[in-house]
Amino acid sequence: MATSESLSLIYKDPSQPVEARVGDLLARMTLREKAAQMAQVERCVASRAALAGLAVGSVLSAGGSGPPLPAGAAASAADWADMVDEMQRWALASRLSIPIIYGADAVHGHNNLFGATIFPHNVGLGATRDAELVRKIGEATALEVRATGIHWTFAPCVAVCRDPRWGRCYECYSEDTEIVRTMTSIVSGLQGSPPPGHPPCYPFLAGRRNAIACAKHFVGDGGTHKGKNEGNTICSYEELERIHMSPYFDCLAQGVCTVMASYTSWNGKPLHANRFLITDILKDKLGFKGFVVSDWEGIDRLCHPQGSNYRYCISASINAGIDMIMVPHRYGKFLEDLVFLVESGEIPMSRIDDAVERILRVKFVSGLFEQPFSDRSLLSVVGCKEHRLLAQEAVRKSLVLLKNGKEPKRPFLPLKKNAKRILVAGRHADDIGYQCGGWTITWYGTSGRITIGTSILEAIKESIEEETEVIFEESPSAATFLGKEYSCAIVVVGEVAYAEFLGDRTDLSIPFDGADMISLVASNIPTLVIVISGRPLVFEPELLEKIDALVAAWLPGSEGRGVADVIFGDYDFEGVLPVSWFRSINQLPLNASHDSYDPLFPIGFGLKMYGENE
Ligand code: GLC
Repeated sequence: MATSESLSLIYKDPSQPVEARVGDLLARMTLREKAAQMAQVERCVASRAALAGLAVGSVLSAGGSGPPLPAGAAASAADWADMVDEMQRWALASRLSIPIIYGADAVHGHNNLFGATIFPHNVGLGATRDAELVRKIGEATALEVRATGIHWTFAPCVAVCRDPRWGRCYECYSEDTEIVRTMTSIVSGLQGSPPPGHPPCYPFLAGRRNAIACAKHFVGDGGTHKGKNEGNTICSYEELERIHMSPYFDCLAQGVCTVMASYTSWNGKPLHANRFLITDILKDKLGFKGFVVSDWEGIDRLCHPQGSNYRYCISASINAGIDMIMVPHRYGKFLEDLVFLVESGEIPMSRIDDAVERILRVKFVSGLFEQPFSDRSLLSVVGCKEHRLLAQEAVRKSLVLLKNGKEPKRPFLPLKKNAKRILVAGRHADDIGYQCGGWTITWYGTSGRITIGTSILEAIKESIEEETEVIFEESPSAATFLGKEYSCAIVVVGEVAYAEFLGDRTDLSIPFDGADMISLVASNIPTLVIVISGRPLVFEPELLEKIDALVAAWLPGSEGRGVADVIFGDYDFEGVLPVSWFRSINQLPLNASHDSYDPLFPIGFGLKMYGENE
């Protein structure tokens, strides 16, 4: 509640224009307070001393980093909100009471939170081509994020993944720029849609049921040579702008509040030290008025050994135009060096003022000064039925039917709900962790029942008639078929969960000897194969020939029912490939614009069960 004394301070008066509040507060800040606003620290070092004493401006949760609880205990949404609110109280105890902005990677739902709705990863959403669906997913995600007191999600990733050997292909909506541009509708879902007349490229947030978004990773992260994570994107500026930068135009047009710099380099120049792209282009030419945040230890990577010449790292990145540094641990060293660099003149005060203005602008625009704490009335939306139904719809629309039947006019799908006996095989059939993929509960995800949801096997069992028998064999063998008649088999294969460099692969064969398992089953029974993966996997022609139907399910998330809805015919397939399905790894990179474009299935391909397939 604003008091008469506090209202005398322009920055504390919500009736004042944002820019007036920014200017008033900036003028009251010391250099050390300004430097502290530019620091983002990880939850595990976010102490009262850092937030109340030093007035550090931002805290983040690394993937899987939540409220400290006894081993094995799953933090509830209320536990998260208690943690964030306590940190906020510390921040408001600082001299100027500047609230923190708390960020986390809610990249397919509030995926750090046990029990949250886990939506399909972006590659599956790209298969839907449905901008309105993705906007709704943003709305739902924002609600679940704000329920935990968190203000900011490091999403969307708007990388245009040109080579599936990259471990972050699944975080991308497509290899096609125009598809990625369409999916940036999630920014309006997360933040709310700016009203007519809202100044272009100026940060916007509708209210406390919305979350601050972060377009990442600027720019060219999906175009590195051979898809190497944190690698080098070699192309002309025209290609960089046309292929990789265009989605940022759409994010800026929707008032995206923040942009995250990429670990990658462009023609050998690291983005974290690229003044031309971050300042001259993003801020000056495109007019971005929010703030640019570094990636995790992104500035440390500017010197070798990493972080060795830290003053150079700080100077190069902040002078390039980065405004907030995801330090994330050694903030004392960061602040000491930053103040030294400003006092020595290596970083002009005007650059510091520009950075802090941008950070304060986002904090004022997002209402943080007026409503710094969590809204506990939102707790009931976490994992709610409405959100799970939305996720189930997204799963349905993301599925891509690549083969349906061995002969024309004799489709294999839909399967019969009253079949006599169905074999379900493969370790991905009953594994919530694998179907969610990376960035789920932990940073790179894991196998097993990691959160609340429905596995594909559970969904199959819920869909069939009483009299139908389902037999599940994770690893079928010859004995599986002895003396048993099966109507059909559903084999679910795919990748393990992974994130970032852990997912970089040059061998994109089906893991766990999946091809052999498929071949064994398909040699005995009419077989549907479902692939749970962040990208296309190698299907040799003879294997494809053996199976009766093939579905790409990507990383569908917690709502496996969406898969059963379609394979048993309650809904038709709608998904079409968001990426090229290569024949061989030797073809990569393989994009539709290439002259020798000869994929197994082209981008845009997808069959229907009921409609006509040209
Ligand atoms: C990671 C990722 C980035 C993420 C950040 C915070 O290294 O590159 O996408 O938002 O760190 O977790």
